[in-house]
Amino acid sequence: MILAVPAAWGPPLPGQFISLAISPRHTGGPEGSLLRRPFSVAGYSKAGGRARLSLLYAPVGRVTHRMVLLEPGTSLDALGPLGRPFPLEFQEPAALVAGGRGVAPMLFLARELTRTGRRCKVFYGAKTAYQLLPPERFHPAPVSLATDDGTRGRKGPVGELLDEESARERPGAVFACGPEPMLAALARWALARGIDCHVSVEAVFGCGLGLCGGCAIPAAGERRGFVWACREGPVMDAREVDWDAWDRMHARDLDRREGGGGSPSGRAGKREAR
Ligand SMILES: Cc1cc2nc3c(=O)[nH]c(=O)nc-3n(C[C@H](O)[C@H](O)[C@H](O)COP(=O)(O)OP(=O)(O)OC[C@H]3O[C@@H](n4cnc5c(N)ncnc54)[C@H](O)[C@@H]3O)c2cc1C
Ligand code: FES
Repeated sequence: MILAVPAAWGPPLPGQFISLAISPRHTGGPEGSLLRRPFSVAGYSKAGGRARLSLLYAPVGRVTHRMVLLEPGTSLDALGPLGRPFPLEFQEPAALVAGGRGVAPMLFLARELTRTGRRCKVFYGAKTAYQLLPPERFHPAPVSLATDDGTRGRKGPVGELLDEESARERPGAVFACGPEPMLAALARWALARGIDCHVSVEAVFGCGLGLCGGCAIPAAGERRGFVWACREGPVMDAREVDWDAWDRMHARDLDRREGGGGSPSGRAGKREAR
């Protein structure tokens, strides 16, 4: 989706998101959503005083299904650009890891890094080939692909692809966006090797304003407690997150959504949620 945005918004930074509300006025019926939904900025351009943002989304629920039906020229209620972006000071080369819908901010980040002459390589994974965007979308950044079922690229998790390729060239920094199990595996991999790692965390946003606690992520270290992804993220230093606690939260959440009884087996990784 391409959105013409007010020039006064200023340019977004990679990792930032916009918050969209789809009201009954947009759907021509009673459906709509009181709560806003966050969408990462996937691209930005400005020409002749006109600024445009691109978004990439998958129709998963009420708002995104309505978005598919919007007519060109519809004006929307949008706030942005919001949130903490990826840091642009880092040791090169950067490994950009995208999983599933998490590809949106990584497209924007790859474009910005290559535009400013920074060295980076993209590692892009999905469950199956048809869920992948054409890798040319990252041009001129080099891309390696992985799919869970092996229908394109290396078979298996995208983190394993990074591990394999890093034997040839060790990344100076890892930037990632994707489902929680993927982020947790990458964070552990990078932190164990002393590599800087920043992730755009997945959380279900309610208010989007730091008020409801719906986007709570367990915090690591002395801080303990929780960080609010909407206010303090979505991009976090991997060291700020308590990954074991978040794994447990994610598994419980998954169980609840799938109608399970909260088994302790931990089923993280079955559903890709972003
Ligand atoms: C910072 C941020 C950036 C995002 N950027 C994008 C993007 O660029 N493109 C994109 O397609 N989506 C993105 N998302 C996810 C998107 O905001 C949600 O999927 C949103 O809820 C969709 O609204 P909906 O009304 O269509 O679906 P809903 O009715 O809200 O949800 C449909 C189903 O998906 C589940 N669900 C929704 N979001 C999540 C989630 N994050 N984790 C686990 N389960 C979830 C719900 O529980 C429900 O079962 C982003 C989320 C965050 C936090
Ligand atoms: S979404 Fe309400 S506190 Fe973050």
